[in-house]
Amino acid sequence: MNTTTGAIGIARPRIEGRAKVTGAARYAADVPTPNLLFGSVVLSTVSRGRIHGVDVSAVQDMPGVVGVIHHTNAPRLNPKAGGFFGPDGQLQLLQDAVIPFAGRPVALVVAETLEQAQAAAAALPVTYEEEPHDTAFTADHPAGRPAVTIFDGPVDVGDVEAELAASAVVVEERYRTPEEHCSAMEPHSATAWWEGERLEAIDSNQGPFTIAATMATLFSLSLDQVHIRTEHVGGGFGSKGLCGPQLILAAMAALRFRRPVRVTLTRAQVFLTTAMRPATDQLIRIGADADGHLRAIWHEPAFEISPLAEYIEGCTELTKTLYAATAIRTNLTAVPLDVLPPSSMRGPGAVPGSFVLESAMDELAERLGLDPLELRLRNEPVVGPVSGLPFSSRNLVACLREGARRFGWDTRDHRPRLRREGALLIGTGLAATSFSAGAFPSSASITAEPDGTFIVAIGATDLGTGARTALTAIAADALAVGTERIHLKISDSALGPAWAAGGSRGTTSWAWAIAEAAAKLRDQDYRGTVTVDTSQSLGDLPSQERHAYSAIFAQVSVDPATGEARLRRLLGMFAVGRVVNPLMARSQVIGGMIGGLSMALHEEGVRDPVSGRHVNADFAGYHIAAHADVPDIEADFVPDYEPGIPMGIKGAGEIGNVGTAAAIANAVWHATGVRQRSLPIRLDRVL
Ligand code: MOS
Repeated sequence: MNTTTGAIGIARPRIEGRAKVTGAARYAADVPTPNLLFGSVVLSTVSRGRIHGVDVSAVQDMPGVVGVIHHTNAPRLNPKAGGFFGPDGQLQLLQDAVIPFAGRPVALVVAETLEQAQAAAAALPVTYEEEPHDTAFTADHPAGRPAVTIFDGPVDVGDVEAELAASAVVVEERYRTPEEHCSAMEPHSATAWWEGERLEAIDSNQGPFTIAATMATLFSLSLDQVHIRTEHVGGGFGSKGLCGPQLILAAMAALRFRRPVRVTLTRAQVFLTTAMRPATDQLIRIGADADGHLRAIWHEPAFEISPLAEYIEGCTELTKTLYAATAIRTNLTAVPLDVLPPSSMRGPGAVPGSFVLESAMDELAERLGLDPLELRLRNEPVVGPVSGLPFSSRNLVACLREGARRFGWDTRDHRPRLRREGALLIGTGLAATSFSAGAFPSSASITAEPDGTFIVAIGATDLGTGARTALTAIAADALAVGTERIHLKISDSALGPAWAAGGSRGTTSWAWAIAEAAAKLRDQDYRGTVTVDTSQSLGDLPSQERHAYSAIFAQVSVDPATGEARLRRLLGMFAVGRVVNPLMARSQVIGGMIGGLSMALHEEGVRDPVSGRHVNADFAGYHIAAHADVPDIEADFVPDYEPGIPMGIKGAGEIGNVGTAAAIANAVWHATGVRQRSLPIRLDRVL
């Protein structure tokens, strides 16, 4: 699996760039389908209770209405369907009268046109027997319980209490992050139809194979009875990783009305009924010697979940690996509430967790009178501080040093509230980060065509991140041919099992399969077709600490009259293994850094405690960084290579989003002298 051509490492624009800017690229809702019906989703307006009635007669004679499916007439689904965490009640749409949260789909109105479906959905009377709800998240909520441990189990290494007691300086603080929403530019859309007993669908998702597998279980079908395709996807950020309500509802309605049905969520519905990052409340204690060596880190995050679906916001991922503390203890508490089931949102766990760890490290540096950069350098571990495993490659120090050099960190006066520009206070801050790397089993096939070209088929998805372009270069490199000889086929569940575009493991997982298939094809002199599945070879990956790293530096200005914090400069140095395409990798990490800026200064899902409902389920009320909020961002890569993964790739999907919020919060402290322990950094929190 040695690399043989120069296809990797070249900055190339997206293969589909022209199709996208000319409008030729088709997203899920754009694919023409004959005889199409449109479904409009009706969401519960109460936070807890039961459906009393759905008055179909009130809308059935409205123009174009074909029918309404709801809990008493919908096709029955397999209650065992689920995912990583077991059965997932979020998939069980229209199966009973129970309302577990405001925003739960209660009906789908189906009509000849989208407008007719929407008009009837708006007119559909749904009555409820309302019950008292609880949507008020607190860390000490009586319903709190230990979180499931599938991804981020509790650890207890060394004697945390004794090390804290022996520490010269201890930071003990509580930090909070709000509900945040993925809300990708392309709303979730699916078009489904049945060909006999076989389900066909075009769906916007992060991985057609995993979605098809879930749909097969849900509708009690064999895998070859479900065929899911995607062409282009306009972002996912985690919310298109699971089988979405648009697909389940479209498939149910297509089954009932025996015609193709398209369901596209509205922007509000994307907020109200697809994945959100849960609110977190995290207590952290860090103890150090006077020279800055860490004795103990004790990190106890709590986060909200829904009883409908198990989930873990793994906030302690970085806590277990970033620094060489003598003792480390972590445990996570899940608090079940009557809220939208949280799920993976970009950099799940690592993003809110790193805000806490890296803010607390900054507070520790302040109390020690130490440069926050130097504090990180003094606590660089030799092996995994919890696992005891070697690092496959660890270039955090290179990121910190090179980032500091480019940013001009060495001239920083570490005392707060000293710099002014006119009326504005100026400050800088940094954060160190990591994000786990690895690969999941995937299959790929390559066919050598008589004309010297190759058809490379893999069930990957391009969320808009440039996966098509990257995989074309990877295939060209693995086959030792030019990229013009590669015809890539992706986004189709029929292409076989493949990991989804998620967990920052899309490129590594797919590259592994493509590299293995290419090696086999070369062994047979570039003749015929080979198909491989990497489940076997992945098992050979040695047990190691395997992470991407970055260092983020921020400069802010704060207006002391209004409390307005604005980002002036953001610089990230990344170690993400070998960079497949510097143009797109840079675009990806910049996107992540803007997400981190958004998290720091803008994003906040707000709930009305009386109704339990979101009050800002749109881009008017849910603020994100707009162009004017984003300065020129500097992002670059230090040399890095992952020895265990073909082509040395680690993955750059999510790491840009990790750490940025802490770097900005630390800069706001440096400007103002006021610590920001709750996100977002609103005006009222600055003064
Ligand atoms: Mo993700 S949050 O890796 O889809």
